Amino acid sequence: MPRAARRPAPAAPAVLERARELTRPALAEAVGGLHPWIAEMAAYGLGWADPAGTPDPGGSEGKGVRQALAVLGAEAVGADARDAVPGAVAVELVHTFSLLHDDIMDADALRRQRPAVWKAYGTGPAVLAGDALHAQAVSVLAEAPGRHTGAAVRHLCGTLNALVSGQAEDLRFEQRPWHGPGAVAPEEYRAMAERKTGSLLGCALALGAVLGGAPERTVTALDRAGRHLGLAFQAVDDILGIWGDPAVTGKPVHADLRRSKKTYPVLVALAGGGETARALAPLLSSSRPVDAASAELVAALVEESGGRAATRDEARRHLDTARRALRDTPLAHPAARELDALFTYLLDRTW
Ligand code: IPE
Ligand code: MG
Ligand code: MG
Repeated sequence: MPRAARRPAPAAPAVLERARELTRPALAEAVGGLHPWIAEMAAYGLGWADPAGTPDPGGSEGKGVRQALAVLGAEAVGADARDAVPGAVAVELVHTFSLLHDDIMDADALRRQRPAVWKAYGTGPAVLAGDALHAQAVSVLAEAPGRHTGAAVRHLCGTLNALVSGQAEDLRFEQRPWHGPGAVAPEEYRAMAERKTGSLLGCALALGAVLGGAPERTVTALDRAGRHLGLAFQAVDDILGIWGDPAVTGKPVHADLRRSKKTYPVLVALAGGGETARALAPLLSSSRPVDAASAELVAALVEESGGRAATRDEARRHLDTARRALRDTPLAHPAARELDALFTYLLDRTW
């Protein structure tokens, strides 16, 4: 099955670099405060260094979406971007921790074109590094100056619980059948994705606003926008997991299919019924592990039945809802515009 021709990657919005520069010193300080071995794993996980601890400039850093959302959350409520920094550091640390543990849970050996942390250092060390980053995230936020620290920490802790619940559901769904009684309904998938991915994006935006002293109504609206952004982000992630170019995504192709991950394109293809769904079901439910050839066939059938297009629509719908939540809230204009551009970039991303 030929892959889609590689389109030029959309230009990254300037806020990503701006937020990276603003956040980096405090993030580096937070990582530097960890046990040296843990700090080395964290630097590797963050894409700052290779496994030998040698700096790896421009190596394999993530997009830095969460720190940018925190910065824009503060600016959107009229606060100084610097107020958001402890929140930006906290969400990037949580994100890094969640990926360290997620790659172990998903048995994914590759992330951002390099061995996952558990592959490079071992599972035990990677678990420990994740734990340390988790603790450091809470600690950085708890030490934020100002009157809003307590509210910010409460928000982050609620998010951590939501993220864990989402990951728990994601793992439990692996054991559920693909179709028939007990199959995962699209609504259940959405609830899982909102928790595992949306909660942290919502938290990033909300923390910027909380630290910037915004009223609760505004914080709730930004949190909601971020959650829908997360649902759109996860839908795109699911598409990239099946049809993305591994040289661009940095992840192995079809890993989700091979692990029976209940992703939206496949669920929606099966839910559609019809001939293709009937051809798909036995392939997915076979007791034999899904090999490379059957994964190709599953991907082709899912596409043929409209699963890919429906997932793209799902992403667009959630992005529209996120945009509406922002429009219905009085926000400072430049930041609102930058948020809008960031949303578009994330829908069109290829990695
Ligand atoms: C990751 O979800 C969510 C968290 C780490 C909380 P996925 O497992 O779907 O994401 P990738 O594809 O490994 O990045
Ligand atoms: Mg994963
Ligand atoms: Mg996962």
